[in-house]
Amino acid sequence: MDNGKPDSNKPVLVLGIETTCDETAAAVVERRADGSGIILSNIVHSQTEEHARFGGVVPEIAARAHVDLLDGIIGRAMQEAGAGFAELSAVAAAAGHGLIGGVIVGLTTAKAIAMVHDTPLIAVNHLEAHALTPRLTDALAFPYCLFLASGGHTQIVAVAGVGDYVRLGTTVDDAMGEAFDKVAKMLGLPYPGGPQVELAARGGDPARFAFPRPMLGRADANFSLSGLKTAVRNEISRLDPLRGSLQEQDVRDLCASFQAAVLESTADRLSVGLKLFKERFGVPQALVAAGGVAANHAIRSALEAVAEQAETTLIIPPPALCTDNGAMIAWAGAERLVLGLIDTMDAPPRARWLLDATAIAPAGFANTRAGF
Ligand code: KG4
Ligand code: ZN
Repeated sequence: MDNGKPDSNKPVLVLGIETTCDETAAAVVERRADGSGIILSNIVHSQTEEHARFGGVVPEIAARAHVDLLDGIIGRAMQEAGAGFAELSAVAAAAGHGLIGGVIVGLTTAKAIAMVHDTPLIAVNHLEAHALTPRLTDALAFPYCLFLASGGHTQIVAVAGVGDYVRLGTTVDDAMGEAFDKVAKMLGLPYPGGPQVELAARGGDPARFAFPRPMLGRADANFSLSGLKTAVRNEISRLDPLRGSLQEQDVRDLCASFQAAVLESTADRLSVGLKLFKERFGVPQALVAAGGVAANHAIRSALEAVAEQAETTLIIPPPALCTDNGAMIAWAGAERLVLGLIDTMDAPPRARWLLDATAIAPAGFANTRAGF
């Protein structure tokens, strides 16, 4: 180390902690001298069971579960990595954005470890960790275009460097995974609904219901999903006015038609996003998809076509690294550490934390998710 700034040519070992939503996770990652990364452990406890009967994540239950589980998960991550706390170059925690109770649990734990072991603390933006993951999995060079679609976020982001992000598009209402989950709930499918909708859609007719293709043809790269969700709700009421049970084929056709609308809208929004990217940064090194929705096979195929059209390649990290996990936090911590981007003990937990500090909500959407 020199002036507290680690030498970027030295390997670093970082513990990463993720508690922003309903995954309690910890991992140990090494960043080697050549800039490549290796995951030494990656322990994730998904709280799906704790929340399933409520049909969605209950913040208070999530925070309490993080308190109960986190110490044990960190212990397992350290043990599996064969590392002691004294060997860590830094401890990183997701400090936002997310459900504030959970964020406080993870960040406070990281601060305690950093203090006791006199190790640097890195407060990581959860979205930054998603954004930097393909550098861990695929040693991807900057700049690249990220499509992030999960239960909490739907964004197109230009990743130009560590800490250098430009939001090109965002949802103005529901997140994409959230829309899948809500449609599944309306149809009586279990939570989380995305995989269930995808499965049901396979046996359905995507052309039976002409659902709207939100934002199609607009010059910006934003998304909207709540109107589509309402169209599905209206169709369900029409088919089943007495709230009995829909025929199985109706459910399949509704899922297939909903998914077809999401696909067409996503392909259109991403082609605009890639066009905006090229205007500012040239051809991207890759189009990267991350977040739970990237697990959807139909969406993957649509993204392949979009990437090909934009003369770039599609990279989708393995599912365990696309969804929330500790390795992505540890990696983002390592990338920041070698640049000397270390935080102090008063780093705040943040419910809201924009990746692109200059991003503003599109006109007319100031009071919506577009501000995130
Ligand atoms: O990234 P993730 O695991 O957690 C966060 O939201 O941060 O994403 C979960 C979301 C859920 O809304 C889930 O329904 C959706 O991703 N999802 C899917 C699929 N698998 C997961 N949506 C559509 N198709 C899928 N196969
Ligand atoms: Zn996430």
